[in-house]
Amino acid sequence: MSPLTTIAVRAARAAGDFLLRTGERLHELRIEMKGPNDFVSEADREAERRIVEIIHRAYPDHAILGEEGGAQGEVGSHGARWIIDPLDGTTNYLHDLPWYSVSIALEIRDRLEVGVVYDPVRNELFVAERGKGARLDDRRLRVSQHNKLAGAVIGTGFPFKSQRHLDAYTETFKAVSLAGCAIRRAGSAALDLAYVAAGRFDGFWELGLQPWDIAAGVLLIQEAGGTVTDVRGGDRFMKTGNVVGGNLRVHQALMDTIKPHLGVDLPA
Ligand code: IPD
Ligand code: CA
Ligand code: CA
Repeated sequence: MSPLTTIAVRAARAAGDFLLRTGERLHELRIEMKGPNDFVSEADREAERRIVEIIHRAYPDHAILGEEGGAQGEVGSHGARWIIDPLDGTTNYLHDLPWYSVSIALEIRDRLEVGVVYDPVRNELFVAERGKGARLDDRRLRVSQHNKLAGAVIGTGFPFKSQRHLDAYTETFKAVSLAGCAIRRAGSAALDLAYVAAGRFDGFWELGLQPWDIAAGVLLIQEAGGTVTDVRGGDRFMKTGNVVGGNLRVHQALMDTIKPHLGVDLPA
């Protein structure tokens, strides 16, 4: 593991362990609403603070993009920027539903180099390093070999925070559902993507995500032999937040099924 990856893992575990402990006193947590259906608690903020502290202790001049703290620091000549979701699956967490994760990615000059997704409930650590593969603990990860939508298990997320994508999403949901898949809406996009990398899900699609939801999971899927694109088949997903991922065959089948139902005004 590179020193950068070691720091990412240390930070993810520290945040995850903190979330697990804090989850035992959920009723004491202060919760605020950031927008419609969009909650944040002191646990989200403190988890991010701990992650940033660990990163900055090792790399004081690296830039950060965190869900709670926003953009911090300039991307210097090293080009390094950490993209952090300290708690992906806040709604689940606040309802004591055991499905959430910590997501930490490092990009250097706009290219993802390290991706870590940690599920503290199952103590599962998903780690990807560019060119070195993806692992779940000591096991090498490969995407599934399922080759069609019929019989596939597909992860997704509903556009519950922004109604903007609701009509387009509903049409895609109907089409994917009619193709004979089992669809799962688990509540943590980062973990969904890690599950695609692990071959537990055959594919995934969601509209309107944020860079911190997807950065680490994208690298996990790529390093596990799968592919991720935006909804037009390009690479603008970090900007548009519209994501389709899977093993190569299921990704293609998902694209073929989804594309006819997207309005021309939906960004790639
Ligand atoms: C959310 C989760 C969810 C997805 C939402 C995200 P948060 O992140 O990833 O699965 O459907 O779009 O915003 O708010 O729990 O960090
Ligand atoms: Ca998130
Ligand atoms: Ca979050």
